[in-house]
Amino acid sequence: MLDQGAPPQNSGQTAAQASPGIGARLMRRKPVERLVEEGGQGEGGSLRRTLGLWQLTMISIGATLGTGIFVVLGEAVPKAGPAVTLSFVIAGLTALFSALSYAELAGTIPVSGSSYSYAYATMGELIAWICGWCLVLEYGVSVAAVAVGWGEYLNELLDGTIGVTIPAALSAPPGDGGVFNLPALIVVLLAMAFLMGGARESARANTVMVIVKIAALVLFCAIGVQGFRSGNYENFMPLGMAGVSAAGATLFFSYIGFDAASTAGEEAKNAQRDLPRAIMLSLVIVTALYVLVAAVAVGAKPWKNFTDSEAALAQIMRDVTGQTFWGTLLAFCAVIAIASVVLTVLYGQTRILFAMSRDGLVPKVFSKVHPKTKTPRTNTLIVSLFCGVLAAAIPLGQLADATSIGTLFAFALVNVAVVVLRRTKPDMPRTFRVPLSPVLPALGFGFCLWMMGSLSAVTWVVFGVWMAAGLVFYFLYGYRRSRLAPSEK
Ligand code: ALA
Repeated sequence: MLDQGAPPQNSGQTAAQASPGIGARLMRRKPVERLVEEGGQGEGGSLRRTLGLWQLTMISIGATLGTGIFVVLGEAVPKAGPAVTLSFVIAGLTALFSALSYAELAGTIPVSGSSYSYAYATMGELIAWICGWCLVLEYGVSVAAVAVGWGEYLNELLDGTIGVTIPAALSAPPGDGGVFNLPALIVVLLAMAFLMGGARESARANTVMVIVKIAALVLFCAIGVQGFRSGNYENFMPLGMAGVSAAGATLFFSYIGFDAASTAGEEAKNAQRDLPRAIMLSLVIVTALYVLVAAVAVGAKPWKNFTDSEAALAQIMRDVTGQTFWGTLLAFCAVIAIASVVLTVLYGQTRILFAMSRDGLVPKVFSKVHPKTKTPRTNTLIVSLFCGVLAAAIPLGQLADATSIGTLFAFALVNVAVVVLRRTKPDMPRTFRVPLSPVLPALGFGFCLWMMGSLSAVTWVVFGVWMAAGLVFYFLYGYRRSRLAPSEK
């Protein structure tokens, strides 16, 4: 690459003299060393390194465990029947292969941009941009999807405690029988308030919420298993393998977020050591919980009785015990659980844009650091408002699948990036190495494509439109303003 290794202030001249063609400009790569060197630096200050392994693991679990298990499970069961347990395993395997690749890259390039930065170092700017744009689906759009699920459980909770529910007009988006989803907007604004306060403060609040949600799922299993009827498993795969993989693709949503720790690379105390560990640890804990909860849920309730978008787990608790108390308690825990997803995923989105902004691909305002809190405050404000309004105005189902397709694409790229970096930088110190590379990254890549192929045509159309919009933005903005561009703006 023409400008590899060049320091920021000189890269313009060097590249200008060489007058690279459009192909070379689209393929320009950012040297790994420079990515690492710039880590933490923003406009007017640096982020603060305050997070240890425990907090990083909690961030990843916080971002992962939420709407998928509490809400989307209810949508997936009608597709797969009791074999939804298998769907969880398939989606988990897809996540696992990609998690290995994430762990290696996060340990080698520990910066906030996550897979966007890994792609920038290995496959060039255009692919990096595409990856970053997919991450906006994974993080920004999923915040909105998750916030909608929060509203559903909030209604369940209000109903169980004070017998009142927020009217549909104010608790559902257009297309889902409402006008505006107010709870969804509120939870995003609450998360924003925490994030503005600081990364350490947000991580503390998140840790408490994660403990609550794990306890809630364990409690669900303990109670739900009492309603277990083996007869509910008799017709294990009523809709065949196609149903299982379609449900798997939908449930992949529930694994999104294990990579969130990789967006905290510039605020981690020992990023190289702790990021890979946090990613793997969180995935193992979450997968175990999911398979258990799904097995208990379809054992306690006939699969045909699951209907779309309901507070599925809380209802099972109520049915099994015959008491509203347990269902209400679960709804309370779900409200906390999903709030922590909103908090951590919103955090991830702000940090990814932070890295992209530092590279010049999105406006500078996203990498401005507040002098007191050492957080990107303006960035947080803009992202929160965007996600809040999206959450309030778009139906969840369509959002969840759009999120999954974008994430799967980004994960597919991470599996390629790990192999490329092994070839281009074989001697770089790595704190974690994917075993059997390139076989496992290739499997990860294949699984991602398989899952993408199982998503509906509508989702593909949404994805196509999203990518086209991203490319237009890149050519109008980032292509010329990139800090690796011939003349810096
Ligand atoms: N995995 C996250 C959730 O299920 C997005 O809520």
